[in-house]
Amino acid sequence: MSGGTLIVGASQAGLQLAVSLRQLGDTEPITLVGEEIHPPYQRPPLSKEFLTGQTDLESLALRTPSYYTDAGIDLVPGERVTEVNLSPSGRPGSGSAKTPSGRVFAFDRLALTVGAGPRRLAVPGAELDGIRYLRDRDDAAHLRQRLTTASRVVVVGGGFIGLEAAAVARGFGKDVTVVEAADRLISRAVAPVVSEFYRRAHVRRGTRVSLSAAVAGFDGERGRVTGVRLADGTRLPADLVLIGVGVLPRTELAEHLGLECDRGIVVDAGARTSDPHVVAAGDCTVQPHPMTGLGRVRLESVQNAVAQATTAAATLLGTPAPQRAVPWFWSYQGDLKLQIAGLSGGYDQHVMRGDPDSERFSVLYYRQDELLAIDAVNSPADYMAVRKALTQGTTVPASVAGDSGTPLKALLTTGRAVVPSS
Ligand code: NAI
Repeated sequence: MSGGTLIVGASQAGLQLAVSLRQLGDTEPITLVGEEIHPPYQRPPLSKEFLTGQTDLESLALRTPSYYTDAGIDLVPGERVTEVNLSPSGRPGSGSAKTPSGRVFAFDRLALTVGAGPRRLAVPGAELDGIRYLRDRDDAAHLRQRLTTASRVVVVGGGFIGLEAAAVARGFGKDVTVVEAADRLISRAVAPVVSEFYRRAHVRRGTRVSLSAAVAGFDGERGRVTGVRLADGTRLPADLVLIGVGVLPRTELAEHLGLECDRGIVVDAGARTSDPHVVAAGDCTVQPHPMTGLGRVRLESVQNAVAQATTAAATLLGTPAPQRAVPWFWSYQGDLKLQIAGLSGGYDQHVMRGDPDSERFSVLYYRQDELLAIDAVNSPADYMAVRKALTQGTTVPASVAGDSGTPLKALLTTGRAVVPSS
């Protein structure tokens, strides 16, 4: 390859960046290099519909094979870029990249959409057979197969991966225990009141949940896992262990290039790294809060991958158009559908709508009376109303938001919603 744009990382953000470049009229070569052998595919179903068997691997593909040819996107799967250098004397942002197999990609523009990898648990016995992580297609296919024969499943980590997979395993009638290090579930994303709802809901469905629990190691026989040992001496028998203890952004290439990294590749609202000629998007980045412009956040979501990659493409073409991007997110744990809009971090007041015991309720978050976010459980209309309010800069006053007899969309008024940066 010579010239054009090199996109390193062929998942949701990388593909979107290529698609957006073409949509914005770019006619230069585009090369999309990905480590996995599969063309870009949807990850969210891996811990839900794919694991339950409701969907197959083929239907996860984000585009048909002919799309890449038709759009003139040179998709290079199964290649890991391990070295990138910017040309000191050439056009700013140009350079070349290499893979261990000897492929060399020269580029005029560079985009890093390298994602994040699962954080590994480094305790004795961690290498035993039957201890799994879930991040990519192959992990999910393996886990699905293991679930057919397993009877006792221990899930380490009560975040999104852990709880979605626990719900699937329990739905298959397995004996399931979730071991969470923090004192509540999904603490990274939701408020304590929602964490407590999920604990009770999973327990009601027959899953055991251990909070504030530290894994000391794994026991095994003939190389296979047989149990999980906790620091307090408890031993949980297991023939399958799934670990979902968060992700680590892949920053090695960015660091090699001397780009600023701070628990992710630091980018601005235009997806520019600390070298303004290089862009980055998706799970690998930290960015200014998309609604207030303050602080730095890492948003691990499909919505962010798509929005940020679209912005990055516009930046590369010199037509930056940062979008109003209200973060949204979803997690389907069995029959419990959680939808989140906005970011609740820093809230000083929350309002409950509905009754958690009915498994249909929502929580609205405010800071100094500004509407920040909603967590909606089996309440899609509430979620849509708040997402709309945050997008438009309207609000639902906290004083009336708890009136579950009135649809939220009928309570929208102007003013006092946190205003997205534009
Ligand atoms: P997470 O950050 O959501 O949750 C990790 C959990 O593990 C936290 O509750 C944390 O306190 C706990 N933990 C950390 N160290 C631990 C330890 N040593 N022992 C026990 N618990 C420990 O990350 P998760 O669930 O691994 O998900 C990975 C990524 O996949 C995230 O980016 C997530 O957003 C994404 N994802 C998205 C889904 C969706 O679209 N709904 C579904 C599943 C995952």
